[in-house]
Amino acid sequence: MIPKSEWRSVTTWVAAVAVAGLSLVSILAMAHGDVVPQSVDTHTLPQLGPQWLDTNPYSTGPAHDEALRIGKSAYNQNCARCHGLEAISGGISPDLRKLDNDCTDMADRAKKEACYAEIQEYFLSTVRRGRARDGRVYMPPFEGILTQEAMWSIKTYLETRRESR
Ligand code: HEC
Repeated sequence: MIPKSEWRSVTTWVAAVAVAGLSLVSILAMAHGDVVPQSVDTHTLPQLGPQWLDTNPYSTGPAHDEALRIGKSAYNQNCARCHGLEAISGGISPDLRKLDNDCTDMADRAKKEACYAEIQEYFLSTVRRGRARDGRVYMPPFEGILTQEAMWSIKTYLETRRESR
């Protein structure tokens, strides 16, 4: 029998265990990849305005390093659970290090630049809209969750993860 004076500490203890149990459940859920997409703070980057660009404005130039820093963390928060840590895919989703492989090997400079530009457009539209087929969502849309600045930052990070360059 528990004396009445000790009831309070017992109930507190029970509550603490319950809370710990709940956070364990949410940690397990995260480990299984069931995470909510994270918005990303991009205010330290040059702002791009409401128009969607076709090519990555941070690929070169003074904003590159900051975009890389933000893009790496944004990638880890939003993409890595499917596309793999450091963009090394476990095989379920495409390996994004290979995204512009075909361009990288092109000898003709103009053709190569055109190829990179095409992939950049493809990248942005994929990230904005996600991927669904036959009513199944393979990749969620990120428009409304990630800003354009965040999407191009992730592209900037992926450009440093290319297999060949
Ligand atoms: C829930 C898992 C999931 C998440 C999260 C996810 N993707 Fe994907 N992504 C996929 C799958 C699966 C495909 C292939 C879809 C298909 O087969 O049509 C794909 C395709 C792509 C492609 C096209 C690749 C190609 O070779 O054609 C790009 C680019 C891409 N994802 C980028 C991203 C980025 C950037 C993020 C983070 C902002 C992200 N994805 C988050 C699962 C995911």
